[in-house]
Amino acid sequence: MEEAVYKVIEIVGSSKTSVEDAVQNAINKTGKTVRNIRWFEVAGTRGYIEDGRIAYWQVHVKIGFHVDQQMQEENRKETGSENKSNLDEPVKYRCLVCGYVYDPSKGDPTAGIKEGTSFEDLPDDWRCPECGVGKDQFERM
Ligand SMILES: [Fe+2]
Repeated sequence: MEEAVYKVIEIVGSSKTSVEDAVQNAINKTGKTVRNIRWFEVAGTRGYIEDGRIAYWQVHVKIGFHVDQQMQEENRKETGSENKSNLDEPVKYRCLVCGYVYDPSKGDPTAGIKEGTSFEDLPDDWRCPECGVGKDQFERM
């Protein structure tokens, strides 16, 4: 099972009409530069008063977005539109200790791992063929 990782940014949205509108404004602005926004949390609310009336609302919002998907979006931009179909290809993993790269399209013949075997499907006792560390020492590329 893949565990989701989120990055959180903080932003202050404002609105003359309501707190909800201020939050929506913050999300709209953030959405122009950040993809895969998944949730928000109101960290604080305040308002400005002019002549005894609420002039506008300011809402301090924490916005969370999915990191892995953000990375995939960036990869898509880097590789260009002609490679869009490659997004479904199995992900490579790199050994943090020695830099060996596990490529699912090649497998690991030294350990009898067939080509087409995803990193997730490698046996738990599989070891880096170069330096011998376990799967927990690998990072997604
Ligand atoms: Fe290694």
